[in-house]
Parts: sequence; structure tokens; C-alpha cells
Amino acid sequence: MKNLFAWLVVLSLVACADEDESPAVQFWQPDDFPPATYTFQNNPVTAPGFELGRMLFYDPVFSRDSTVSCANCHLQAVAFADPAHKISVGINDRIGTRNAPPIFNLAFKSNFFWDGGVNHIDFIPINAIVNPNELDQDIDVLISKLNKYNRYPQKFKDAFNKANIDSQQMLFALSQFMVMMVSANSRYDQYVNGNKSVLAEQEIRGLALVESKCTSCHTPPLFTNDGFANNGLDTEFTDRGRAIITESENDVGKFRVPTLRNVELTDPYMHDGRFRTLEQVLTHYQQGVKDSPTLDPLLKQNETPGIVLSDTEKADIIAFLKTLTDRSFTQDKRFANPFLP
Ligand code: HEC
Ligand code: HEC
Repeated sequence: MKNLFAWLVVLSLVACADEDESPAVQFWQPDDFPPATYTFQNNPVTAPGFELGRMLFYDPVFSRDSTVSCANCHLQAVAFADPAHKISVGINDRIGTRNAPPIFNLAFKSNFFWDGGVNHIDFIPINAIVNPNELDQDIDVLISKLNKYNRYPQKFKDAFNKANIDSQQMLFALSQFMVMMVSANSRYDQYVNGNKSVLAEQEIRGLALVESKCTSCHTPPLFTNDGFANNGLDTEFTDRGRAIITESENDVGKFRVPTLRNVELTDPYMHDGRFRTLEQVLTHYQQGVKDSPTLDPLLKQNETPGIVLSDTEKADIIAFLKTLTDRSFTQDKRFANPFLP
């Protein structure tokens, strides 16, 4: 089944390449990952489309005053998270409400944002563009800026072969750039793929602990079950999380289970960036978990809420989490800023 799917993707890319003569770009479907959920048939990735998306991602023309780009809050060196702010900061230093999540392996996920408020990659940028705390720009104004900008009309034509730039092409180009961001080459992946000598003893002990205590939520290979949970950060919730979308009291204080891949790089942690270190995160699970009506049952199995962990076990788990870092992804030149030499 997996192979069949991979072939369909390749075939649709090839078919498109024949039609408009845009060279296809190869999407990487790692063998042990679930099949990609992205709708490639509507928006096949081509070389000009991908390169255009890359430019757009790094271009400050996206903000009302042309000062802030997507990359201000999503930095490649830290797997496209934001190392500088707990809560992200946009145009005119306006403060948002949540921590900017990393960007990779989006093609395999079915919901986005901390509350799952967006369920298709193609719609993600709209939120960032029009959000007054992020880019604060009307989509129509952005499109007319792009149409007037010297560098873009020809590039859009090369990618989509239409007379004028419209918002769908802009969104498609950004998606083409972002879905190609696949991160599956950490030391952990090399270990899983047969290179058993790549992990040290402590890291292997940490892996076993994570498998017994964390993977019902942070499930491999993506290290998320793509669901929502309350992991005990608070008793009262200023940010109601998943309940904002579902309007159900049962979802108050539940947030998207984030991936643990590249987690060494993506601090600060949690939806509000409250923890600076992995040590603090593990101490939270060990002794900081707060009870509330929606606290996940997995964290309520003992007399006091939380996960039973010794200090040695915490250290082993942190050692393992660092094996999930994928520098080949954070240093991949295909995703780097095209405006820099
Ligand atoms: C001011 C900072 C900021 C800017 C600028 C920004 N983002 Fe984000 N981004 C965020 C925050 C914060 C979230 C999480 C929002 C939430 O959960 O409510 C987010 C979420 C995302 C996600 C979802 C990731 C996931 O796994 O759920 C993607 C993808 C993304 N942004 C892409 C972009 C793109 C593309 C642009 C440019 C058009 C952009 N961002 C501009 C801060 C920013
Ligand atoms: C009941 C499900 C559940 C279990 C079990 C669980 N987590 Fe989490 N984890 C979450 C959720 C949900 C979040 C995000 C919470 C938020 O931001 O409000 C999270 C966040 C994290 C983060 C922060 C990631 C980031 O990008 O901000 C780390 C690190 C983490 N968990 C590690 C672990 C480890 C290690 C274990 C096992 C010792 C574990 N978790 C067990 C659900 C769980």
C-alpha cells in the first residue's frame, strides 16, 4: 500500500511535468513514515514552484510594512521554530498569543496549529498574513504588491503558467516549498534503519524509557499521534486550546501533541514557550503536572498526577531526545534563504 502510494505521487509529478514542462521535484517519502496526506494531485511540486515558494517564504514583502517575512518567526537553523521568543512577535513588535512551532514533515500531518484550527497546509499562510500580530496584510494588497514587483510575475508564470498572480498560486507556491521539508535523517533514524552502533548505551536506555512512558502521545515515527491532549500545564486556561475549535468543554486545555523530532533545537517549549530547557520539561512531567477535569488519563495513573521518573531516567530520556536532531535538514541548502549569497 505504501509503495503504491509512493508510485502514485511520482506518477502525478511526472504527468504534470509533461503537461507544462516544469521539471518535477522529488518528494522524499521515508520508508517507515505513513503515506503523505498532502494533496499533491492538486498542486504537484515542480522546480519553479518550489523555488518561488522559497523566495516568498523569505520575502518581507509579506508584511504590511514590508519588514517581516515568514522566516522571522521560522528559522531554518532551529528546524524553522523561533528561538528568540516564548510568544511570537510580528509586525511593529506586536505580541501574538502562542509559540511558533517548527516546520517539517507537514506533508504527513492532518491538522496544524496548536489547536488544530487549520486542517490543510494550503490555508496556513492566510492566517499568518492577515493576523494583525503577525504580518497584518490584506491578501488582495499582497497580491497586487506581488504583481507589481519586478522579480515575481515571470517566476509565477514559469511555475503556474497563468496571466496574473492570484492568491491560490501564492498559497500553492508556499505549500510546495513547505511540504518538501522532510526531516527523517537523525541518528535515531539511522539506528532504526539498521546502524545499531550509532546510539550510545545511555541513548538506547532513553529510547526504551520514551517507548514505555511517552510514545502513546509522542508516537514514532513522527513522534506525535497527531492528536490533542492536556499534559497538565495549568488548572485554569487563559488559552482554551482545542476547545476554541470544537467548542467542547471536554477539550479545554488540550493542545496538539507536538513532535519530538529536532526538539533539542526548538526551545522554548509548549504552546506558550514557558519552558526553556528539556530538563524543565522533564521536571514538569516528573513533579509539575497539575490536575484538572481534562488532564489526560495517562497522567493520572498514580497517586499524584504525572509520570514516575528518577533523575537518572530523566537524564537518559534527554540524551535520547537529542538523537532526534537532524542537522542534514537544518543545513539543507534547498531550504536556505535565497536572498543571501
Ligand atoms: C510573527 C511570527 C510568525 C510569522 C511572521 C509567521 N508565523 Fe507561522 N506560526 C507562528 C505561530 C505563533 C504559529 C502557531 C499558531 C497557533 O498555533 O495558533 C505558526 C504556525 C505555522 C505553521 C503550522 C505548523 C504546525 O505544525 O502546526 C506553519 C506551517 C507556518 N506557521 C508557516 C508560516 C508561513 C508560511 C508564514 C509566512 C506566510 C508564517 N508562518 C509566518 C508564527 C509566525
Ligand atoms: C498524555 C499525552 C502525553 C504524554 C504521555 C507525554 N506528552 Fe509530552 N506533550 C504532550 C502535549 C499535549 C504537549 C504540548 C502541550 C502544550 O503545549 O500545551 C507536549 C509537549 C512536550 C514537549 C515540548 C515540545 C515542544 O515542541 O514544545 C516535550 C519535549 C515533551 N512533551 C516530551 C515528553 C516526554 C519526554 C514524555 C515522556 C516522559 C512526554 N512528553 C509524555 C502530550 C504528552
